[in-house]
Amino acid sequence: SPESKLQLVQRHIRAFPDFPKKGILFRDICPLLKDPAALTAVIDLFEEQVRKNYQQVDLIVGLDARGFLFGPLLAQRLGIGFVLVRKKGKLPGTTVSVAYELEYGKAEAEIQEDAVSPGQKVLLIDDLLATGGTLFAACELMKKRKAEVLGCMVVIELKELNGVEKIKPHSLFSLLQY
Ligand code: PRP
Ligand code: ADE
Ligand code: MG
Repeated sequence: SPESKLQLVQRHIRAFPDFPKKGILFRDICPLLKDPAALTAVIDLFEEQVRKNYQQVDLIVGLDARGFLFGPLLAQRLGIGFVLVRKKGKLPGTTVSVAYELEYGKAEAEIQEDAVSPGQKVLLIDDLLATGGTLFAACELMKKRKAEVLGCMVVIELKELNGVEKIKPHSLFSLLQY
């Protein structure tokens, strides 16, 4: 049988032990981005999910930095806009920020105050869910701006870190689970 889109995606992710710190198994998406068919498969699978479950979405919100690799492609496919959640200090104008912890460090996430309007329906996208600290911070930013989070989408979910609990009550859609 022909290879499924999911198998094609899975074949283009590699793992590096002890990066960036001892004890972390780093899931590397670079081969996925280097292969046009595999990258198209990712966007196809996300698009199918949005068309099935999130038809009312107004905006795709992508997380700095690796969420930026997939978010604009998906937004363009859907014919809607893309908004950036950036690490602190990168966005001009009035911003809203929130501090958070992730699997191997700490950071602060920020959006422009006028990036999303109250009541807008958004989907958050990132490459990977580990502890959920990063996506939780983005959900907090959406709450501050009174946007409605329809759900979160990632390519990879690291199940043992239970990030899905951290982002509740928001739902998670992941393509691959490890
Ligand atoms: C990585 C990854 C996710 C986050 C997941 O981002 O891209 O955004 O960690 O971890 P968590 O679920 O424990 O929060 P990172 O900030 O390391 O780097 P990036 O700038 O390359 O996206
Ligand atoms: N971000 C947080 N944990 C990660 C992991 N294990 N691999 C790649 N990116 C990550
Ligand atoms: Mg990231």
